[in-house]
Amino acid sequence: MLVYIKENYEEMSKEAARIVAELVRSKPSGVLGFATGGTPLELYKELIRMHQHEGLDFSNITTFNLDEYVGLPPEHPQSYHYFMWENLFKHINVDRRFVHFPKGMAQDIEAHCEWYEKQIEKAGGIDLQILGIGANGHIAFNEPGSSLGSRTRIKTLTGTTREANARFFDDPSQVPKYAITMGVGTIMDAKKLLLLASGESKAEAIAATCEGPITAKCPATIVQMHRHATVIVDQAAAAKLTMKY
Ligand code: F6R
Repeated sequence: MLVYIKENYEEMSKEAARIVAELVRSKPSGVLGFATGGTPLELYKELIRMHQHEGLDFSNITTFNLDEYVGLPPEHPQSYHYFMWENLFKHINVDRRFVHFPKGMAQDIEAHCEWYEKQIEKAGGIDLQILGIGANGHIAFNEPGSSLGSRTRIKTLTGTTREANARFFDDPSQVPKYAITMGVGTIMDAKKLLLLASGESKAEAIAATCEGPITAKCPATIVQMHRHATVIVDQAAAAKLTMKY
């Protein structure tokens, strides 16, 4: 596991963008896994800049998002589908046909989750998966206690995650209770992982992820077992690390 400690959020995001751009340039028909939330926003701005000013070409890139709220249609402003189009996809030249999300409105969720897994497989697997981390150590919506071998499925969001995500909704009661999420096992199948964290609220989860024992109580700790995992954090998120990196 490679751990990079950057001075601040901007430097963290630039380093992450360099890694994503390297993948896109070396494998123009590669498969990228995307995350939503506050953490990757500056990374996405930097990718947009690279597309607009350096010709970074996404036209043959296939994408898979980690998760989606159950019950929100794609056009809902708080859906992850909407988030990705607003914050990245509509500003770069991704081909709509190659963009994948779990469907929050799927009728048969179980069948849909199986379909999603198959699509990832058919695309040849995810080359580089971008990840954020919850203060409680979740990755995607794999909350503490999730099976470390889990695949794409429906999960109940914990109270702390619903509270953390309430900032994006007008009223906290509107935060959905369920999400469809790639499983921990699905994420671990990606060829490379890029986990980002910024701010002191993530310091404990980052210390556990990089230095703690592997445990389902903090699903992100499984990243230690990945062969090509890179963790990029800012100084605040690195505050509780005790080893030298
Ligand atoms: C989002 C996702 C979540 C977030 C995590 C951190 O697709 O999978 O695991 O990465 O909740 O969210 P932020 O970045 O908002 O702190």
